[in-house]
Amino acid sequence: MANRVLSGMQPSGLLHLGNFLGALENWKSLQEQYDCYFFVADWHAISTNYADTSRIKEFTQELLFDMLATGIDPNRSTVFVQSTVPNHAILYLLLSMIVPIPWLERNPTYKEKREEIKERDLSTFGFLGYPVLQAADILLYKPDYVPVGIDQLPHLELTRELARRFNSLYQPVFPEPKELLTQFPKVLGTDGRKMSKSYGNTINLSDTEPVVRQKLKTMVTDPARVRRTDKGNPDVCPVFDFHKIFSSSSVIEEVNIGCRTAAIGCIDCKKQVADAMVERLQPTWDARANLKAKPAVVQEIIQEGSQKASRFSSQTLLEVKESMKI
Ligand code: TRP
Ligand code: SF4
Repeated sequence: MANRVLSGMQPSGLLHLGNFLGALENWKSLQEQYDCYFFVADWHAISTNYADTSRIKEFTQELLFDMLATGIDPNRSTVFVQSTVPNHAILYLLLSMIVPIPWLERNPTYKEKREEIKERDLSTFGFLGYPVLQAADILLYKPDYVPVGIDQLPHLELTRELARRFNSLYQPVFPEPKELLTQFPKVLGTDGRKMSKSYGNTINLSDTEPVVRQKLKTMVTDPARVRRTDKGNPDVCPVFDFHKIFSSSSVIEEVNIGCRTAAIGCIDCKKQVADAMVERLQPTWDARANLKAKPAVVQEIIQEGSQKASRFSSQTLLEVKESMKI
């Protein structure tokens, strides 16, 4: 039996290129080797958006389209929505009984996020307990690996600590999951900062071709290159970063030299990167449009995924209850 992989993503906004390249494309390739469980963590999205939950449903639906359009194949992987599998809430409750509050308070993500998102009051029980819910998500499926970005490592460490604590308090139930670090480098946004929805600098998978082209047109370049005749430095230009991701090696070389010698202008350079990006995204866009035209099919896929996830996690929950003698 192949090793099992589990990962989830929050529907806290529309999926952008960074999530697509860094997570979804990676999930897609993991299907080749592993028995995969991929889910939309819609309860997690409430933790930071509880004051305005109006778009979580919409973002959940869009994320499902994104996942399936990228090539997550429901015939190979189990695709589901967290809130349709109540077992996540049950294990979360049981784990909350054994997690020491200091473990949660010293979590670096907890501290950083509260600093970062000052405009929202995150001094809630749910936000503090976020990693316990994540641990429940993971442990229910006893995965061998959890593909995540580096920012999620503290949560995975806490998951292992909780597994050990549970196993030693009761009968051993949970294997300790290992991370599969996502290798893809950070993708920059149209303003040259890290691509992030909170900066408003994203290119979304749900954007149309004209929108993508427009966003690239207004994208920042080497700030020292003001006039067409000025020589530029591609190393400090976020457009060049996109070339490195999307263009062929000959175009990359051409741009690299052309920029430094002012042989190529920014408008042409951006046009080339837009063409390459559009070409790469086109299959996903087409698949997305197909899926959007058939919401009932998507509904059925997710229902089946949820049933499969429920069956699997119910088995784990039985073992948990037996182990705890409850
Ligand atoms: N916390 C993860 C993130 O923000 C999302 C997530 C929720 C997750 N539950 C998970 C990731 C379980 C991996 C496994 O990206
Ligand atoms: Fe950036 Fe291209 Fe302009 Fe050079 S030519 S500054 S790489 S957009």
